[in-house]
Amino acid sequence: MIFQKVKQNKIKNSPEFKKFPQGFHWGAATASYQVEGGIENTDWSKAAIEGRVPVCGDAINHYHLYESDFDIAESLGHNAHRLSVEWARIEPEEGKFNEEAVEHYRKVLVALKVRGIKPYVTLWHFTIPLWFSEKGGFEQHDAPEIFARYTAYIVSKLDDLCLDFSTMNEPNVYGSNGWLRGTWPPFKRFSLVESISFTNSNEIKTYESSKGIRSLFLYFKVMRHLAKAHNCAYDAIKKVSPDTSVSLVKHVIFFHANRNPINIIIALIANYFWTYRFMNRVHKKCDTIGINYYFHKKFGDTETYVKTDMNWDIYPEALEGSLVMLSKYKKPLYVAESGIADAKDAYRGEYITRQVKAVWRAIEKGVDVRGHMYWSLLDNYEWALGFEKRFGLVEVDQKTQKRTVRPSAHIYKLICEQNGLY
Ligand code: BGC
Repeated sequence: MIFQKVKQNKIKNSPEFKKFPQGFHWGAATASYQVEGGIENTDWSKAAIEGRVPVCGDAINHYHLYESDFDIAESLGHNAHRLSVEWARIEPEEGKFNEEAVEHYRKVLVALKVRGIKPYVTLWHFTIPLWFSEKGGFEQHDAPEIFARYTAYIVSKLDDLCLDFSTMNEPNVYGSNGWLRGTWPPFKRFSLVESISFTNSNEIKTYESSKGIRSLFLYFKVMRHLAKAHNCAYDAIKKVSPDTSVSLVKHVIFFHANRNPINIIIALIANYFWTYRFMNRVHKKCDTIGINYYFHKKFGDTETYVKTDMNWDIYPEALEGSLVMLSKYKKPLYVAESGIADAKDAYRGEYITRQVKAVWRAIEKGVDVRGHMYWSLLDNYEWALGFEKRFGLVEVDQKTQKRTVRPSAHIYKLICEQNGLY
């Protein structure tokens, strides 16, 4: 035992060892709708009934299995965990809050605490209560105030168990999938072609309302409302819980380019529209910033990349540049998500290693990074793609709900336990 400790210390002090700052948070992330099961009063559950997205149903029953799932996280050396609470459970009717739901999340946070795992709680991760969506969701003008009321309520109920909350997850992904690509509720799609389509009823040719173009304007409106919702929520939370640290979780696509000046300019513009434009509106009301990194786009690139099961390039190195990008706001950062869909677990171990090295390089450059949360602890409901894509450190058989730890989880475990890697 003593010999082992001495050996471990030797490893950590060797010059090649990439040591992380003391107290660094290592863990994995989940989101309520994707894992809990039994959530039937959201825009997504309604869309599933209408056959527009796959049914989530019992998901992976994390609502009931959270204790044993957290046992697994603890056994894997995690000292932090990112989860979200479900707005539709907490406020099932407008302005009426459900104490049972609050009690449930309190138990979840206690379960983390007794295992020595620090929680990061996201207050809204994509799904919205049905009543809110039927009123127009984030298109309506009073959405920011409605959202802020909910966030302040739930934080005031949980802040003795958690002091790190993020208001929302990936506003740009939410907005673009819902209003530009039309693949997520409310399924509005921006298209120039749609806007000039004609219908021919009763021999009278009528011009279809310019739905496609309208959707682009709605997208910008929703993005404005989301920024305002974050800012209002920040103020409302600080009023009820001044010591709470409030963040926003931002999805960063790392746009970069070859040496061609035109490509460089395109990359700059793309980074502005995807990342900076929104962050410029909210950074003053962020105590910390969470970053989700999954993909990059290099303009003028001739390289070919191995692909994940999502058909995304395996290029975790760009997490470094993404962290550098957000460091411009001079707030502590944490990796709230970064992961790989890899059902065979063929690339995950190497991916994590390269990803963690990218974080380390950013820290070496002076970026203040406080934690790293792999996406995801468990295989789960991958939104419009259902249960087929496997991001988990832990494999889940959705039919039997059996959990099996994947080999790559042990590679990450070593990193977590040693607080660094070679
Ligand atoms: C989202 C997760 C999602 C993951 C993988 C992130 O954009 O926050 O909910 O499962 O990407 O696609």
